[in-house]
Amino acid sequence: MSILYSKTALGPLTLQNHLVMAPMTRCRANDNIPNALMMEYYAQRSKAGLIITEGTSPSPNGLGYPRIPGIFSPAQIEGWKGVTDAVHSKGGKIFIQLMHCGRIAHELNLPAGACVMAPSAVAASGEMYTDTEGMKPHPVPKVMTGEDIKTTIAEYAQAAKNAVAAGFDGIELHSANGYLLEQFIRPNTNQRIDGYGGTIENRARFVLEVIDAVIGAIGKDMVGIRLSPYGVFNDMPLYDKMEADYTYLAQQLNVRGLLYIHLVDHSAMGAPPVPDAMKATSRNLFKRTLILSGGYDAERAESDLAAGKCDLIAVGRPFLANPDLLTRWKTGAVVNAPDMDTFYTPGPKGYTDYPVLNK
Ligand SMILES: Cc1cc2nc3c(=O)[nH]c(=O)nc-3n(C[C@H](O)[C@H](O)[C@H](O)COP(=O)(O)O)c2cc1C
Repeated sequence: MSILYSKTALGPLTLQNHLVMAPMTRCRANDNIPNALMMEYYAQRSKAGLIITEGTSPSPNGLGYPRIPGIFSPAQIEGWKGVTDAVHSKGGKIFIQLMHCGRIAHELNLPAGACVMAPSAVAASGEMYTDTEGMKPHPVPKVMTGEDIKTTIAEYAQAAKNAVAAGFDGIELHSANGYLLEQFIRPNTNQRIDGYGGTIENRARFVLEVIDAVIGAIGKDMVGIRLSPYGVFNDMPLYDKMEADYTYLAQQLNVRGLLYIHLVDHSAMGAPPVPDAMKATSRNLFKRTLILSGGYDAERAESDLAAGKCDLIAVGRPFLANPDLLTRWKTGAVVNAPDMDTFYTPGPKGYTDYPVLNK
């Protein structure tokens, strides 16, 4: 009897199965507005127990990459309505991932008047793709003032309300992979000397205030968070107090009682593994739902669920390349390989045209 393919509860929601489609940026939202092509893409994958959308900015300042969607304008809310309707009409559930890129951005990717901002003036190493001028070095971000912090928190709260207006079942705060929320948590990117920097209590303050604001806006049953302890993506080096910091976070998240923690482990993509002890810490300290992700196939998913390591399993690349992943995994059919060359390119190629098995 499979756990993976059986129904389950996520807070007040009933999910068709224990398999979550992990958030994946796909850069198909021309002008940062969700469109009919995106509707088709998500509808194709609606057999997942839960879909978590691509990273979506709560603010014009957070649109770091070209063609990523936002959820701050009426046109964006309208566009996302089409997506949530399409997924719901096929029996699926869908959360929106709120991603503010912070310093992982370039002015050329932002709308007029927006600004690359972060906790401290520390540029990420490496380069950033722009549609107009190709690869450009990461800029030195503007240091967020107390006023910027307040405004950004209010933008998250408004984005959460907009998500509900757009028909989402909930939101996931992207506090992983080197984006704004993680930039506050980690000491290399947060060198502030005010109440938002220094000790972990201070470095966690921004993310906890964002959580309080979104919970205030839409309720704790609609709010999850993604974290990447030991993650190094986007120039976020390992440091000595990592485990202690993420232990503190797990405790604080439990106090807030939000719906879930979603842990990233990118060792299948060449990153350092997340120690089992760290995953167990989140499991033990956080009493609501735990989602694990990274490099899962059906067998490992079933085995981690059976061992009680987590409640749900999130899968990225296999869902990207296999709209009918559930059928393929259930029947042991061969799976399509993802085409990396079309991960972030505009248009349907490598997006909505992956082959499905004959029905
Ligand atoms: C094309 C692509 C885009 C991604 N974009 C995001 C994103 O927007 N937000 C996020 O939290 N993770 C993002 N990820 C990471 C995935 O959610 C997931 O953690 C990763 O692919 C590992 O899981 P997998 O081995 O099942 O693919 C992305 C991954 C890929 C391949």
